[in-house]
Amino acid sequence: MPDFADLDMMTKDEAAAELERLAVEMAEHDRRYYEDDAPEITDAEFDALRRRNAAIEARFPDLVRADSPSRKVGSAPSAKFAKIRHAVPMLSLDNAFSDEDVADFARRVRRFLGLSEAAPLAITAEPKIDGLSLSLRYEKGRLVSAATRGDGQVGEDVTANARTLDDIPAKLTGYAPDVFEVRGEVYMTHADFAALNARLLAEAGEGEDAKAARQFANPRNAAAGSLRQKDAKVTKSRPLRFFAYAWGETSELPGATQSEIVAALQGMGFQTNTVPQFGKGEPLMQRFETVEGLIEHYRRIEAERATLGYDIDGVVYKVDDLEQQRELGFVSRAPRWAIAHKFSAEQATTTVEAIVINVGRTGKLAPLAKLTPVTVGGVVVSNVTLHNEDYVAGRDADGQPIRGGRDVRIGDTVVIQRAGDVIPQVVDVVIEKRPAGAEPFRYPDHCPICGSKAEREINPRTGRLDSVRRCTAAMTCPAQAKEGLKHFVSRNAFDIEGLGETFMEELFDAGLVRQPADIFRMEFDPLREAIEARRRALSEARRQAEGKAEPAKTPKKGETTKAIDNLLAAIDARRTVSLDRFIFALGIPEIGESSAKALARHFDDVRAFVVGVDAARAAQPSEDWAELSALRTIGGTTFERLMAVDEAKLADPDWKPLRDGELGLKANQRVALRERYGEEAEGFPEALRRAKAGAPGEAFLALTRDSDIGTVATLSVIHFFEERHNREAVEALLEAGVSTTNERAAPPPASSPVKGLTLVFTGTLEKMTRVEAKERAEALGAKVAGSVSRKTDLVVAGPGAGSKLADAQKHGVRVLTEDEWLAMIA
Ligand code: IVH
Repeated sequence: MPDFADLDMMTKDEAAAELERLAVEMAEHDRRYYEDDAPEITDAEFDALRRRNAAIEARFPDLVRADSPSRKVGSAPSAKFAKIRHAVPMLSLDNAFSDEDVADFARRVRRFLGLSEAAPLAITAEPKIDGLSLSLRYEKGRLVSAATRGDGQVGEDVTANARTLDDIPAKLTGYAPDVFEVRGEVYMTHADFAALNARLLAEAGEGEDAKAARQFANPRNAAAGSLRQKDAKVTKSRPLRFFAYAWGETSELPGATQSEIVAALQGMGFQTNTVPQFGKGEPLMQRFETVEGLIEHYRRIEAERATLGYDIDGVVYKVDDLEQQRELGFVSRAPRWAIAHKFSAEQATTTVEAIVINVGRTGKLAPLAKLTPVTVGGVVVSNVTLHNEDYVAGRDADGQPIRGGRDVRIGDTVVIQRAGDVIPQVVDVVIEKRPAGAEPFRYPDHCPICGSKAEREINPRTGRLDSVRRCTAAMTCPAQAKEGLKHFVSRNAFDIEGLGETFMEELFDAGLVRQPADIFRMEFDPLREAIEARRRALSEARRQAEGKAEPAKTPKKGETTKAIDNLLAAIDARRTVSLDRFIFALGIPEIGESSAKALARHFDDVRAFVVGVDAARAAQPSEDWAELSALRTIGGTTFERLMAVDEAKLADPDWKPLRDGELGLKANQRVALRERYGEEAEGFPEALRRAKAGAPGEAFLALTRDSDIGTVATLSVIHFFEERHNREAVEALLEAGVSTTNERAAPPPASSPVKGLTLVFTGTLEKMTRVEAKERAEALGAKVAGSVSRKTDLVVAGPGAGSKLADAQKHGVRVLTEDEWLAMIA
């Protein structure tokens, strides 16, 4: 909702300026929508601007501009087409967004017609189809011209294009008045839209070209872009449809009401919504005598929306009696006798057709719901992530309901939300609509790709069973290998231009690239063969999909040669990368970009890194130590305190470490420890003793501490290099000639105010990111630690600092604000 709170305070000058701004901004959005078929904002956002404009105009009626968006319908016709002046203007509709708006509409109509509350008033309700409107002129029953809405007065001549649509008869059946203009909506079904985009993609070629291919954002844009083609042959190849729902100039009318005429349009050979097709055989267009009836129908259409197979964005209500329509007439751009009740733009209801499991780079089994496609906020959504096993079940491994979890089953009706750029989510399951016999989804315990066991491990940070189930086959699982390769070439890793995700998959499937080193060993001829084979397969698939007998296109030799040359050159350019990119590219679980950078700072090259990891392995802690130190609730200082408990206490059978006050543990820490180790006597003291005995050696601590990546990440790096094939893959890269550079920070200056000090950053830093702050400090010769202890020299605390700040005060460590810190190192 737009914020209208400022309107009450607005001065006349401000209002004038704001109206001007809105006129300019909305004209630009109109242009993008109507001329480029490429809107930048959603319809809902545009409606919000329109309402703001209307609200300001309502307060300052004398400021309404000649070019006000409230006076405009659509946009001027594009110069691409000849123009047609509409004999009767093509107007727009006012919008209703709530039940209250609908009641207001009915009240307004009654008042205007002088009808009492009790007098009968028939209003029709029908879907508002989300396409583009078209006016078809028939003379003596024959189609003579077709025009888009344009600015409402003058439209574009798209006669040749319109003739190519199956739903537009060249001749009316059984009806031939001198003049009869039929108006309606050109649209595209979801299925046709998906097939069209797939075809456009296939025609664009492979690799990066495909990404640049012009695809349509949604069926409405696809319909508009396809109709408004210079070459009608292109329009003919596009799967466009047409619904008739209104009329323009007519020399006679085949009825006295809206519903009679739309029924007659159906008789003339048009698709209309008067035919039974809805729910239990009712038509989508119906007639009602009450507002409640209209709203009930609106709800039903909204609920059935996803099953229609095409986009609708609301329900249009029209006064049925044409005599009453004439009396009501028009206000500026819209009729008084009709209104569009819009659906909320960010949510939509649809059904779960299937639940599939994808396997990610780290073996994570990721559940994805396949939906009956539905447009939410201007984008067609046909998949939605279900996150993990617990989310799908709606409860965790212990059977406890989880927040946000949904118990989603195949066949369920779900409400999908897509707000802004956030990925679509399931926000509700409509339990009343669950089909009888829908079973809870059975989550696989084996990898659906390679068949290996898929397991849930203990999450070291929580000490509980992880919500993620993982395939245990690592790189021998094709899905993991493929995802690993995609990651390897991705933007922040090796960043190889021309080697996008799809292409990488194809090279894997063709057997050309099975591990990263293969990329650097690719050769021209096998590549060409793979590309050509793929092109043949694609055009064959397209031919079959379209049922056409057109021969498969043979690839153009010159293009392929150039593309391969470019790719090989791009690969060559990446034979040397920075060490941090190399480490990040390996896709080690827990090692993201900043950890990779941190690790790279401590080693000269790949070999030194591997040697460092091996040394850390030799010095690694016991599992007990690792487990305790990884618990999220146990910070560094607490851990140090636990490790310092003396032997005498540990040997005392009456010692109750989890009792209130003991060891300075906070309540949440005691809960976490109890959950993990059980009650006092049996569990925790014993675990503590074992942890103390299993402390790591210096090489491990050095890797963890210097790079500040934490125990879990350090163990993950060690584990990665314990796998023979990972080691071999790294070795193979070096053998294939890949080398690294390392632009490590210059050695710290001989003297700096913080040289040799140990610092801790806590809270939110406002002038730089944590990583930047750390890099700056290290460049000046300071050591940055993750937790505050007696050894800490300085704490830099931003807003929101919590326990670390308290620790600093306890240990008497000097605390600086971010600004004081910056002044200190300036
Ligand atoms: S009646 C004078 N009925 O919505 C009113 N319009 O926002 C003529 N639309 O320009 C329009 N479905 O492109 C009407 N069932 C329907 C409609 C419909 C879609 C479009 C049409 C119109 C726009 C108004």
